Amino acid sequence: MGICQARCKVLRVLCILLLYGSINNSLALSPDGEALLSFRSAIVTSDGSILQWRPEDPDPCRWKGVTCDSESKRVIYLSLAHQKLSGSISPYLGKLEHLRILTLRDNNFYGPIPSELGNCTELQGIYLQRNYLSDSIPSELGNLSNLGHLNLSGNLLRGSIPPSLGKLNKLVTFDVSANFLAGPIPSDGVLINFPESSFGGNRGLCGKQIKVACNGGSSTNNISPTS
Ligand SMILES: *[C@@H]1O[C@H](CO)[C@@H](O)[C@H](O)[C@H]1NC(C)=O
Ligand SMILES: *[C@@H]1O[C@H](CO)[C@@H](O)[C@H](O)[C@H]1NC(C)=O
Ligand SMILES: *[C@@H]1O[C@H](CO)[C@@H](O)[C@H](O)[C@H]1NC(C)=O
Repeated sequence: MGICQARCKVLRVLCILLLYGSINNSLALSPDGEALLSFRSAIVTSDGSILQWRPEDPDPCRWKGVTCDSESKRVIYLSLAHQKLSGSISPYLGKLEHLRILTLRDNNFYGPIPSELGNCTELQGIYLQRNYLSDSIPSELGNLSNLGHLNLSGNLLRGSIPPSLGKLNKLVTFDVSANFLAGPIPSDGVLINFPESSFGGNRGLCGKQIKVACNGGSSTNNISPTS
């Protein structure tokens, strides 16, 4: 009877494992893949491309818009411009530790830019222009010491430009134009190097870069900040 019982037990365990495996396919997916699925779950409409992302893949490297490093298989680019995406930008993107380029421009994303992006310290480019992103620019972006390109133009961003962005020593292009930003443009650090066009179309900003004096009564465009 020993053998039979042992066999039955083995079969039962196998059965349970198989069942568990089929229910929980995503167990096999890499952590970067899991983070991308969480990112997708915060998106409410799309043109369909991200619906083809398959949770049963071992890694997300063949998913549309995703590029991995060929050796490490870690996600380095996420590029989903012009995909009619609407919804919020998930804080889980902060788990893509090796992300270098994030391109979500020309979509309908709304809500805040997640401060967790400040965790992706290998980021070299962030392109979020032309969405409906609101709230203030997270000061945590100042932690991205490799960042060369930041474009947040054409959103609904409010508040002031965080002084921490002045620490971004590798910044080559910077654009926060056409938002609702207010207050002084930080003059300590790299932001002093950018032209008027980087800041245009924000009626509440002041500073040398746009030739509008701060606290100075001289400017005819002086709009007092409301809340
Ligand atoms: C970001 O980093 C902070 C501090 O290390 C950590 O507490 C948080 O969980 C991280 N967030 C994400 C989304 O990885
Ligand atoms: C990131 O930036 C925030 C705000 O600027 C700061 O409080 C935090 O300590 C920084 N985190 C790291 C890991 O440098
Ligand atoms: C930022 O994006 C806008 C809209 O696509 C574009 O017109 C502008 O040239 C970009 N800014 C920079 C500095 O590249």
